[in-house]
Amino acid sequence: MIRLIDTHAHLTHEDYGGELDRILARACEAGVDRIITIGWDLPSSIEGLRLADQYPELYAAVGIHPHDASTTTTDALEDLAGLCRSPRVVAIGETGLDYYYDHSPREAQIESFREHIRLARRLNLPVIVHSRDAHADTLKVLREEKVEEVGGVLHCFSGSLEMAEEAMGMGLFISFAGPLTFTNARRLAAVAEGIPLDRLLVETDCPYLTPVPHRGKRNEPAHVALVAARLAEIKGMSLEELAPILWTNSEAAFAWERGEPDG
Ligand code: NI
Repeated sequence: MIRLIDTHAHLTHEDYGGELDRILARACEAGVDRIITIGWDLPSSIEGLRLADQYPELYAAVGIHPHDASTTTTDALEDLAGLCRSPRVVAIGETGLDYYYDHSPREAQIESFREHIRLARRLNLPVIVHSRDAHADTLKVLREEKVEEVGGVLHCFSGSLEMAEEAMGMGLFISFAGPLTFTNARRLAAVAEGIPLDRLLVETDCPYLTPVPHRGKRNEPAHVALVAARLAEIKGMSLEELAPILWTNSEAAFAWERGEPDG
């Protein structure tokens, strides 16, 4: 029996309205018995933590996505810090830079990203980093803000092996999602092949990025098994061999069940 964790799901997305119990049951059937639900703004972070308090298999990450970086005010950051008092919060995120969509001005994205890493260091939590078409600036901010003090993950990785190596040098894990299963993803497969086993994680980033053979349909945590199976194939091993390694990595990557902080 394999055990998998989906390290990046957006279960508070409106696409899941009212279906969460069935979605979690299907995840459990697929061996996915732990899921981190990821906030992308303040309301989704609050709601994600509410779900994590309700369902034992769910944990939360709280943060403001680069798309919404314009909403990263001092008050919003203090509200996020307040949520982190709960031991069900295992990371800060998602944060990062997205120069593909540029939904928020780049200066605002960079400042929000910096503030998230500062908050993570203040609270001793790892960070979950989104980076699209912004690889040089992502590495620059991670370095300048000393992410190595808390670590974290480059989620839905789409960069080069060189970028991954620089991030791993700062203590980050590299997480792969549905695109690894796409038939045209030879370059990404080559990158995954080059990453050491003890730095790898898997995720769905659901409801987005549905893996083969379900492309075109809504994604959900059960499908992380398909990403893990493809990663195992790339690594020349069985899913049964890879799953416990991914589990151990996730134990090291996130801040599980911390005690309530003092003061
Ligand atoms: Ni995401």
